[in-house]
Amino acid sequence: MKTTIKLPTPQKDLKFPLMKALEKRRTKRKWKDDPLSDQELSNLLWATCGITQEETNKSKSKRTAPSASNSQEIKIYVATKKGLFLYDEKKHQLLQVLSKDIRENIGTQKMMRSAPLGLVYVSDYLKMGTYLAGNDSRKWFVSGTDTGFISQNVYLYCAAANLSTVILGLVNRDKLHEVMGLKECEKVVYTQVVGKSIDK
Ligand SMILES: Cc1cc2nc3c(=O)[nH]c(=O)nc-3n(C[C@H](O)[C@H](O)[C@H](O)COP(=O)(O)O)c2cc1C
Repeated sequence: MKTTIKLPTPQKDLKFPLMKALEKRRTKRKWKDDPLSDQELSNLLWATCGITQEETNKSKSKRTAPSASNSQEIKIYVATKKGLFLYDEKKHQLLQVLSKDIRENIGTQKMMRSAPLGLVYVSDYLKMGTYLAGNDSRKWFVSGTDTGFISQNVYLYCAAANLSTVILGLVNRDKLHEVMGLKECEKVVYTQVVGKSIDK
């Protein structure tokens, strides 16, 4: 049965100086085997594109990361040992999509497969329908840009929480698309692995 996992409330009052996080931000390719705690996962996902302003009759919600025309086209999938989940930022919960472990497809470098958690950034081209209609190269460009902001949010949270992370461009996108059962309008942009740091 497909499950819904309610995440704990993100710790928005977590104290860690922004300038220190910028200084500590680093690509780290080593991690412990242990999974992230539920609280770390909650904080991490809220950092990606959590809701910071609720929608009103007049305007769409706002997220921690900007997006072109506020199209919010990037969806965050979470791959763990337990399966594949979609982050539902409106309810701050995870929706199970698959019950199989797909982390072997997270990146083409062998070391990445051992990371406890993989984020897959998927662009929904239908969400950029009106202002970029028919222009797939612009959609790809915008998807890459918008994913970059999300990825940097992850890097900064990881720096503050002593987690290791790597954004991955070395990805077999066609294979991942197939394994995840994505639609034609959904494109894998980048992936990003996260694990507990082995450093103190
Ligand atoms: C768009 C992009 C794609 C990247 N793809 C990979 C990758 O596939 N594998 C990897 O090990 N590192 C990847 N990196 C990480 C870079 O190698 C890393 O950011 C760079 O060496 C600078 O190190 P720093 O992030 O610690 O400043 C990527 C970085 C960016 C921005």
